[in-house]
Amino acid sequence: MTLRVIEGGLTDGRSMGLLILGAAEIATLSGGLRAGANQDQPELLSSDPGGGPEDDAAPIVATWEDRIVAVGPRALVERSLEAQDLPLARFARIDAEGGTITPGLIDAHTHLLFAGSRENELRLRQAGAGYLEILAAGGGILSTVRATRAASLDELLAHGRRWLEEMLSHGVTTIEAKSGYGLDLPTELRLLEAAFTLGREGPIDVLPTWLGAHAVPEEFRRRRDPAEAFTRHLLEEQLPGIAAQGRARFADVFCEDGVFTPDQSRRILLAAEAFGMRPRLHADELAPSGGAELAAEIGALSADHLARPSDAGIDALAAAAGTDRPVVATLLPATTWFLMADHYAPARTLIDRGVPLAIGSDFNPGTSPTANLPLVMTVACLQLKLTPAEALAAVTINAAHALGLGDEIGSIEAGKLADLTIWRVPSHTQIPYWPAAGLVRTVIKRGRPVYQRA
Ligand code: NIG
Ligand code: FE
Repeated sequence: MTLRVIEGGLTDGRSMGLLILGAAEIATLSGGLRAGANQDQPELLSSDPGGGPEDDAAPIVATWEDRIVAVGPRALVERSLEAQDLPLARFARIDAEGGTITPGLIDAHTHLLFAGSRENELRLRQAGAGYLEILAAGGGILSTVRATRAASLDELLAHGRRWLEEMLSHGVTTIEAKSGYGLDLPTELRLLEAAFTLGREGPIDVLPTWLGAHAVPEEFRRRRDPAEAFTRHLLEEQLPGIAAQGRARFADVFCEDGVFTPDQSRRILLAAEAFGMRPRLHADELAPSGGAELAAEIGALSADHLARPSDAGIDALAAAAGTDRPVVATLLPATTWFLMADHYAPARTLIDRGVPLAIGSDFNPGTSPTANLPLVMTVACLQLKLTPAEALAAVTINAAHALGLGDEIGSIEAGKLADLTIWRVPSHTQIPYWPAAGLVRTVIKRGRPVYQRA
């Protein structure tokens, strides 16, 4: 990843701190997981338009090494740095030039790694073919599986870098990345190794998820009860190898009528959890299938999609929201849009019921070929009727919680990792307002400027 030195910023390469000045607005998202009416509270710090560059009350952020050390009005931040024994002279300065500072965006649901593309399915869907119908005919996920099995580790890494670079340009600093286009052990291990390697390369943190149960592969399709036969194979033959490799942080299952049942999903997710992989699931994407209920029952970190949860599923998520292990509903509205489906996730109902919402890109070659998370925020505002502030919480603090990282990332608070995005618009409300525009000026990852718009 090219690292551009910012004018007026890092001068000697030895500065361990950054002061980010000149923002019109800082959306801190401080105060923890958002749910209910609170999802609409971004905790803003705003500058006085007449204040000028020397305004003591102008909001600034200070980072030291890889952490945020202070945020607030300039005079208070400077005092806090003094108290922390951090001499101001050691800080390089970045000018936000009247833009907005937010936490670095977090994409809590991606299928980053695959080979090939599936533009042909767009034509099939336009002609009326259903998503699961294309899959049953050996297309869909299975066509990506054929291409991915044939791809080398180096090819997967090159593909991953290409799309991570694009994500970075849209202000993303952490993503989750699923396997699931191998469906055999060697390819699944290769996908998880690639995800892990890309995260280690940086600058984006990549958290690998084992999605062994993404579909039933071709070689199991002629068995009696193929999904059950493949479930047993996953439990007995694949999971031990995935666990021994130790790269996967989470496990996921496509729990959906016609794919994997709640019972099969439960067995896979609990077995993976016993190896330390925290559960999350594709739940009720196309039809009420018991996915939301299962997510609540097993204490999954997140239940994803939820375009068509049952009433009982919504009740179960609402009940979990009131406990100390809430399930984050990670909605993927770009998928509904790209599938040309008419039924979006009941986001307003979920918010009214106190369920914390995240949104993710679902980046994948079939149902959501976009890595542009701000565009997904736009779709969330237009189709899920989220406010811009709710959408921002959904890609920052709530997405952090959906990844089990709510204490480390997702907000601009002293002590958290210094993952920050500086936008070329004066308010967070403009981020979803300009669809698919390149609005990012600068991205800072762990206290290091890693992207600067040319
Ligand atoms: O989240 N629904 C299952 N998995 C992906 C799509 C995968 C594909 O079609 O390649 C999703 O939409
Ligand atoms: Fe997905």
